[in-house]
Amino acid sequence: MTISTIKSGPFEGQKPGTSGLRKKTRVFMQPGYLECFVQSTFNAIDGVAGKTLVVGGDGRFFNAQAIQTILKMAAANGAARAIVGLGGLLSTPAVSNLIRQRKTDGGLVLSASHNPGGIDEDFGIKYNIANGGPAPESITARMFAETETITEYRISDAGDVDLGTLGKTQVEAMLVEIIDPVAEYAALMQQLFDFDKISALIAGGFTLGFDAMHAVTGPYAKAILEGQLGAAPGSVINAVPSENFGGGHPDPNPVWAKALMDEMMSDKAPDFGAASDGDGDRNMIVGRGTYVTPSDSLAVLAANAHLAPAYKEGLAGVARSMPTSAASDRVAEKLGIGCFETPTGWKFFGNLLDAGKVTLCGEESAGTGSDHVREKDGLWAVLLWLNILAERKQSVADILREHWQEFGRNYYSRHDFEAVPTDAANALMSGLEAKLPDLPGTTCCGLNVVSADSFSYSDPVDGSVSHNQGLRIGFEGGARAVLRLSGTGTEGATLRVYLEQYEAPDGNHDLPVEDALEKVRSAVVEITDMAGHIGRTDPDVKT
Ligand code: G1P
Ligand code: ZN
Repeated sequence: MTISTIKSGPFEGQKPGTSGLRKKTRVFMQPGYLECFVQSTFNAIDGVAGKTLVVGGDGRFFNAQAIQTILKMAAANGAARAIVGLGGLLSTPAVSNLIRQRKTDGGLVLSASHNPGGIDEDFGIKYNIANGGPAPESITARMFAETETITEYRISDAGDVDLGTLGKTQVEAMLVEIIDPVAEYAALMQQLFDFDKISALIAGGFTLGFDAMHAVTGPYAKAILEGQLGAAPGSVINAVPSENFGGGHPDPNPVWAKALMDEMMSDKAPDFGAASDGDGDRNMIVGRGTYVTPSDSLAVLAANAHLAPAYKEGLAGVARSMPTSAASDRVAEKLGIGCFETPTGWKFFGNLLDAGKVTLCGEESAGTGSDHVREKDGLWAVLLWLNILAERKQSVADILREHWQEFGRNYYSRHDFEAVPTDAANALMSGLEAKLPDLPGTTCCGLNVVSADSFSYSDPVDGSVSHNQGLRIGFEGGARAVLRLSGTGTEGATLRVYLEQYEAPDGNHDLPVEDALEKVRSAVVEITDMAGHIGRTDPDVKT
């Protein structure tokens, strides 16, 4: 055996974004590229000597090859043990759970989440810490600093590990354990939810459709929904993970999960539909004829979580990312529990969860989760919904309608402008930022501006402060617009515009969403001089 220390070539400093490092697959495949990032990660955590790491990914192109490289590097850096999912597969929430259950030092997840996979598509890597959650900014900042100064990495020249066989093997002195990716996660779900009640609901004729989008949740959903809960065979579709996700975007929203949406809006719709993303942390919830926005889903789950065994004592608090609608704030207020607004990215929930300040968290981007792991969790959200439906014995549409009648409705939509030239996107944002102090007190498109700022977050647990987390404009009556640049895009800049309008409990909850948001949308277009900066006002994707 030889362990080589290889001098790395020039490596441009790489800044991890909202969720680890995401790049085109071919960028990751350049000689030494993945290696330099992994070594920088190891260096940033004071090395991995003697440590145990969980390693797995969503099965996209380059997943298995990257895992082989990581195992050889972990071994050469002196790691004691690696726990790897069979076939290299592990969903993001399953990694988080394994880190926690087995008390490992951390883990590496290979995924570009909901971005397409393939040699000409996207790849990504993120590091999770010992609490099971994404590395906080203090660590990602160190990782970035390491990438700027790295000159060498350590890698063993041992042969590849057989990822397709369960059991134990070695790379140099490091023990590699290949495990069933589903078992421990499924056991956790069984602890949290009333599987008997959900099974009884299904046995009584309740039907469901789950689109795994050819991504990692397939095996988890098959085992749990069909295997344990008795959903009809075939209820889980696109259940076999593929390297390019069947050529699609494994992004669970009405645009990319269109086939499921169409079915749910048709007369052949099952009672309940859901989908999850590439690495299994996002979810889409849809009832027969009724799409539930992620912001509303968080609010409904917060209002009803006590119906599931794990949350029967009630919630400590609820946290949402800043651009997520304020629907969950209204629930928290009524329940008299803590309510937090954090920057975009799951890593900001970690401290609040660890400190027991919140039990549920959510993001408008289809991420919902709780203190059971330190990642958002797609299938968990589906099971909590099913548990609530099994208790309330009402349709999704009725639950949503009653929710709005009690709390009011936060009409909401996100508009994404993709592949915008970076300079143009930056100019739009800095132009708006310069204007912010003058906006309050002005009127635009019939809306009175009452507040405008650049969001800064001060972590209530460790006191760390994160600046420049998005620009917000508040209007009279609860309407709001937020603008920020994506931290996960891989081409040019992605400008995200988040629109919200509040309608009181006794107001009209049946407007088409676009109509309800038209004034806020026009106001944003005008205030930012969107057409002047980026040459268009129509987004690529509306969710
Ligand atoms: C996007 C979402 C954000 C989520 C992240 C990782 O980040 O908006 O909520 O945490 O993906 O899944 P963005 O591209 O907006 O920076
Ligand atoms: Zn994801």
